[in-house]
Amino acid sequence: MMKTIRWGILGAGRIARKFASDLQYVENCELIAIGSRSVEAAAAFNADYAVKYQHDSYEALAANPAVDVIYIATPHPQHYENTLLCLNHNKAVLCEKPFAMNAKQASVMIALAKEKKLFLMEALWTKVQPHYIKLQEMIKAGLLGEVTGVLANFGFKPMEPIPKRLFDKDLGAGTLLDIGIYNVFMALSVLGKPDDIHAVMTPSVTGVDMQCAVTFIYNNGAIAQLFSTFLSNLPTEAEIFGTNGRIRLTTRFYEPSGRLEYYSGRVDSLEIIPIYKEPGFGYQYEARHVNECLRYGLTESPILTFADTLLLMETLDKIREIAGIKYAEDDI
Ligand SMILES: NC(=O)c1ccc[n+]([C@@H]2O[C@H](COP(=O)([O-])OP(=O)(O)OC[C@H]3O[C@@H](n4cnc5c(N)ncnc54)[C@H](OP(=O)(O)O)[C@@H]3O)[C@@H](O)[C@H]2O)c1
Repeated sequence: MMKTIRWGILGAGRIARKFASDLQYVENCELIAIGSRSVEAAAAFNADYAVKYQHDSYEALAANPAVDVIYIATPHPQHYENTLLCLNHNKAVLCEKPFAMNAKQASVMIALAKEKKLFLMEALWTKVQPHYIKLQEMIKAGLLGEVTGVLANFGFKPMEPIPKRLFDKDLGAGTLLDIGIYNVFMALSVLGKPDDIHAVMTPSVTGVDMQCAVTFIYNNGAIAQLFSTFLSNLPTEAEIFGTNGRIRLTTRFYEPSGRLEYYSGRVDSLEIIPIYKEPGFGYQYEARHVNECLRYGLTESPILTFADTLLLMETLDKIREIAGIKYAEDDI
């Protein structure tokens, strides 16, 4: 008999609801608890998802002995303290992206998970999605030849009611940490750590980036160009190309909604690679992966490793330093 994994969610916001909805597609697991800062938000969540335990504090959720693993769904600056809270209550943790505000925080979180021998993973959901896995298989099989570059863009104009955390610096606002992170992730996972980085941004009145343009430069000649914006609606596509071909991930490249197009030659040599799409938003893949890791008694995902998370955080730190994007947490 497969062990049923019992999930709790910390923070009853937008992404918490999507994740909760996708858990219905995951075998042998149950969403049993919500933790919120307010009784009202916890009750509203409970009305929609009918969980067994409704907690009006994060501490109470973390202390619930019935919960195996907690999904952290709060704004970026809260990820650090929320993750530490759950680990200190001996809970496994799946923490939303960006994992932390900087690499220093990420290192502390990982060190505590290691010390307590508990599972911890960043919820960079693209990494375990079928289209991304297929992309990596195609690259490994040599279908692109030598990979020479990545072009990725992610842009949308937020609609009313505009989520506060996108523009409030105290909530980790700005494009880079929220959406540019997917561009950076894609370039890192295809080309590795860059040898040089160029980055510029368009500041908001509070100094966070409303647009951010990043170039990764590699000693072997490869280049990645990455652009994120809250000022315009962009295709939000990624192209990965090499000496023998090109793969285009159509909108939205970071989730399973788009197409995987392979061009082995000129622009008209299109082949659409079939990818089976499950119902749901696509969060079930990461939940399923976490469940599997827990069943095997793993404390680190073999697919999304601590090294992956630290490289991503360190690269984001470097981009912020170059582009001049600062948060209060940088002075910690
Ligand atoms: N993987 C993805 O596709 C994806 C998509 C969207 C967002 N995200 C990530 O998920 C995180 C949350 O995003 P979201 O869009 O769900 O945000 P949201 O709708 O604003 O929800 C965040 C929740 O966090 C809690 N919270 C704790 N401290 C807070 C504070 N100081 N101010 C405001 N809320 C606070 C609140 O829940 P309670 O009031 O119930 O405590 C709030 O509802 C972000 O880090 C974001 O990067 C990931």
